[in-house]
Amino acid sequence: MRYLCKSILLAVHTILLVGSVCCSTDVHNTDDKYALIHVSAHDEQSLHLIKQLQLNDFKYDLDFWKSPSSISDKADIMVKRGKSERMLRQILSFANVTVSMSVPDVEKLIMRNEGTTSKSHLGFGSLSKWLHDDPILDSEPDLDLTKVGALKKAKYPFGDYASYADMVKYMRTIEFYYPRIAKIVRIGATHEGKPIEGLKIGARSSHKKRAVWVDGNIHAREWASSHTALYFINQLVSEYGKDAQITNYVDTLDFYIVPCLNPDGYEYTRTSPIPTVRLWRKNRSPELCRPSLWGGEKCCRGVDLNRNFRFHWAERGSSYEPCSNIYHGEEVFSEPETRAVRNFLATPEMKDRVDAFVTLHSYAQLWIYPYSHEEQNYPEDIGELRKTARKAINRLSRVYGTNYRMGTGADTLSPAAGGSDDWAKSALNVKYVYLIELRPQMELSNGFILHKKELIPTAVETFEGFREVVDAVLTLNNSTSSIGLSSGSNTSRKTISDLQMRKQQYRMRLLASQAAGSTTRSTTTLKTSTTSVSTTSEATSPSKTSRHFDRFTADLNSSTRARPTPPMAPPIMSPSTEFSTTTTEEEDVTGVIRSSSIASRATTYGFFTATKPSAFLDPECRDMRYSCGFWLKNNKQVCEEQQSFMRAQCAYTCKFCTSFIKRH
Ligand code: ARG
Ligand code: ZN
Repeated sequence: MRYLCKSILLAVHTILLVGSVCCSTDVHNTDDKYALIHVSAHDEQSLHLIKQLQLNDFKYDLDFWKSPSSISDKADIMVKRGKSERMLRQILSFANVTVSMSVPDVEKLIMRNEGTTSKSHLGFGSLSKWLHDDPILDSEPDLDLTKVGALKKAKYPFGDYASYADMVKYMRTIEFYYPRIAKIVRIGATHEGKPIEGLKIGARSSHKKRAVWVDGNIHAREWASSHTALYFINQLVSEYGKDAQITNYVDTLDFYIVPCLNPDGYEYTRTSPIPTVRLWRKNRSPELCRPSLWGGEKCCRGVDLNRNFRFHWAERGSSYEPCSNIYHGEEVFSEPETRAVRNFLATPEMKDRVDAFVTLHSYAQLWIYPYSHEEQNYPEDIGELRKTARKAINRLSRVYGTNYRMGTGADTLSPAAGGSDDWAKSALNVKYVYLIELRPQMELSNGFILHKKELIPTAVETFEGFREVVDAVLTLNNSTSSIGLSSGSNTSRKTISDLQMRKQQYRMRLLASQAAGSTTRSTTTLKTSTTSVSTTSEATSPSKTSRHFDRFTADLNSSTRARPTPPMAPPIMSPSTEFSTTTTEEEDVTGVIRSSSIASRATTYGFFTATKPSAFLDPECRDMRYSCGFWLKNNKQVCEEQQSFMRAQCAYTCKFCTSFIKRH
């Protein structure tokens, strides 16, 4: 059979070669359009051929949106109209498969489901306006906001797609207004230098709490996944103290939710509705070249992050070719994004604490449990994993009737080694590990291009399923899940207020030491000994660093240092930071900066310019917007009231509080 497939592929190469020679002048106006086609095999041999095509996607310029798990299970393949599509159809005509057109023009679908409704934004001449600058103000999605818990101040445009900057802004605002239960964790930085941030949500406790991990958007194009993770955050925070069960969750457990693990890739997919951009899957690691089929070489960017973890790395369902969509990277954990996850979960703070690891993907409506590197390979406690998965998909379907299937990735899709889920189960020994492939079901044909209208329902139903996993974790730890027990009880209030007191004292000491004239950033003074990943301690003179680098150093400090607080918010301080944000990623950031080109710096800088410059007091200073500009906007006196802090944090970089500096 293998031999037969090989000969088919050989024949295909010939077609390809001839095609490329004979048709080089063949100008089809369909050539810049992309189609999505459904393909299903009717025998083992054809199934094998389709799987071979996926492994060779880079040769035939195919983008597999979904792999086929078995005979008659459909694969979704995106292909360029014209020559490539004809070639694919020719290849498939050798085999016993059904081919049907699903979406004739993917870009049109993107514009319809994700573009703004405003006419002025729709023209192809104004692609930059494809996604509006400020979704909160501009969009008119059809929402059921009654399902979205209200938060004070922190706003996210649920029911719409937003920039990574907006996600971070939302999480930082939550941290600001809900310091008792929410804290930013920065687990690392990307190739391009963007911070990878999430929120830790959990009430303080005298003992070490068990933890639940949730991530999203490890694949750039899977937009519904970060939206869903942000919704989880929204519900846990907004329902704390209101919904007895959620209060119990937050009192009993610590949730670590990182909505977007691949911000470089995500932002790239937002830059254009052109299918090759919008449907980008990997991260944005620098180009690597390999000899091409026609002589010369072919160079491509990006690693499939979900093939880069240490679990049967580089085995089935992944590729050595940098141009492949399932390229596993040069070595295991070669990517800063995957290392960030590994390092964070290996910190003493996190080690052996995680009872659930939930990673959100799209699409196919699958509740996947380990292992997915090969068919019919399961962990010992598969029974318990299945039981909870079953309960989760039942509970999920009770919301809107959405139908999920469950199984391993290998059994329901296709074997794929190097996934974060399998790594979490095998290397971290996490009990409940699930990879959730969100809406839509493949029959609905839109794949990754989920209509905005489906975003909130997707998030709502998934949260319901997720609660079943949390309940299983509580049961596992024999924790009380009895309603109302710890919801905002006096005991927890007292603990919090003692803590606030200690924070205040710490903050005063810190400010005093800064007033003594030190602007040296010494991370070791700011973190507890148990929290660091590495021991990086770097004295950085602000004038020495580039502005975009300052953003990171500044933001690093903003999560570990006392911050001036606007009058409406209580003082916040984090002396017992669970995860020092000044560690591994700093090595990464430094590494990136040392090796990065001007162009990549520019990208990084551009990232924070995405939202309204007019909102800044100093339009030149975008990097510190979430600290200096925000504080100043909330409290006009902050330069005077928090002199030493503002001098150290804001005056030299963003030139806030400069009049104060001049006068002194
Ligand atoms: N669609 C997902 C991917 O391709 C499925 C992963 C299933 N899990 C796994 N470890 N392969 O990454
Ligand atoms: Zn995915």
